[in-house]
Amino acid sequence: MSTLLLFGATGDLSHRMLLPSLYGLHADRLLPADFRICATARSELDTAAFRATAGEALRRFMPADRLEESTLASFLERLDYISVDASRPEDFARLGQALAGRIDKGLSIFLSTAPSLFGPTVEGLKAAGLAGEGVRLALEKPLGTDLSSSRAINDVVAAAFPEERTFRIDHYLGKETVQNLLALRFGNALFEPMWNAKGIEHVQITVSETVGLEGRAGYYDTSGALRDMVQNHMLQLLALVAMEPPSHFDASAVRDEKVKVLRSLRPIDADHIEKESVIGQYSAGAVAGQVVPGYLEELGKPSDIETFVALKAHVDNWRWHGVPFYLRTGKRLPSRQSEIFIQFRTVPHSIFGGRGAHLQPNKLVIRLQPEENIRLLVMAKEPGLDRQGIRLREVPLDLSLTNAFAGARRRIAYERLLLDLIEGDPTLFVRRDEVEAQWEWIDRIRAGWTAAGMTPRSYGAGSWGPSAAIALTERDGVSWHD
Ligand code: BG6
Repeated sequence: MSTLLLFGATGDLSHRMLLPSLYGLHADRLLPADFRICATARSELDTAAFRATAGEALRRFMPADRLEESTLASFLERLDYISVDASRPEDFARLGQALAGRIDKGLSIFLSTAPSLFGPTVEGLKAAGLAGEGVRLALEKPLGTDLSSSRAINDVVAAAFPEERTFRIDHYLGKETVQNLLALRFGNALFEPMWNAKGIEHVQITVSETVGLEGRAGYYDTSGALRDMVQNHMLQLLALVAMEPPSHFDASAVRDEKVKVLRSLRPIDADHIEKESVIGQYSAGAVAGQVVPGYLEELGKPSDIETFVALKAHVDNWRWHGVPFYLRTGKRLPSRQSEIFIQFRTVPHSIFGGRGAHLQPNKLVIRLQPEENIRLLVMAKEPGLDRQGIRLREVPLDLSLTNAFAGARRRIAYERLLLDLIEGDPTLFVRRDEVEAQWEWIDRIRAGWTAAGMTPRSYGAGSWGPSAAIALTERDGVSWHD
């Protein structure tokens, strides 16, 4: 029998993502027949009560057409619940006894708890004999708030779980379109010859959200956009765009290449911080026609935390010499969209004379969400018998992945990640050296903000952030792709 031990099983992530993902894997018969899910949390529940809660969560968070009553019943049968208080060693002893005989074919552990509980939980697991050979540990963010706290977490974990059995989650790596980036770059001969400073003029990565605090004030107000989104998700996207071709699609090769990119990120030092970064905080406004309060009103107290950040980054290596990577993310922006925008260089010479004055550089837009598509903007001749020569216009070559793979279900990112965890494939998880390189770069930015006395500029909810974010790119003659 193999088991997934889920800490924080009564929490929000578990209800919204983990249980629905496990249900999806169960419904598609991707879990071993004798696979068990042992849920734990501090609440004093029994298995029947937990199953009832899990059922409610699935009814609430799964699309109705995905939930099927008999499948739900057989899924709930797989669940057991044991209450565990991470500060009580005796609880881990009880857990160890309960799991005896149920993990001969493997144990995967998922910590979806506050990071302050990682230490005692890992120690408790080790003492209960639940950290031995073959046991894998997955950790959900936040993995620290800076390099030193991240190292401290990594050290505590490493005392019980070697790196090859430590699975750090970045749910962006579980998204189909993010993996598609690898397919696009390394499954096609077309792009690679252009994928460098000679062919590409600049790159933009935008992750915009319409939501505000979503009841997560306690966490968000100690984090802010830089640590919540850039340190992990956006730097992972940047690394996948910028990395050299790995020799194989395997954990070491892919992560070796990503970490080289992260280590090549040019520190944004004190001299550049005010030109190369912009921070903002939303005030009241309207998002998608709905009037919403400002951050401080939502929070109910003063705060200098940024809900928007825009950065100009550089990857200092041969491939990317002189190519800016503009990153931007924020809450309460006009639309929910994650995309990678790549602007190629213009043709070296226009044969179209004055008519070529409006020749546009090619652009590749990789839309990750809400819909998944890839769009290449190319110049084409406008139809007609224009006597003064050929008239050109920019037109899109569209690939809608949703349509191309119609019938394929859109999966939750955690389905891929949970399955990989259970099967022991760490390729789509973040290695220690990656996470530490990410923090190193982020810490310098935060230190730069403090040294320069930078505080967030206000932007109206429903706008694309403070106007300084526009100036950040316009200064280079570049516009954000909205
Ligand atoms: C999380 C952040 O990691 O990612 C949230 O903590 C953010 O603040 C979320 O909303 C965005 O994820 P997705 O998958 O909705 O783009």
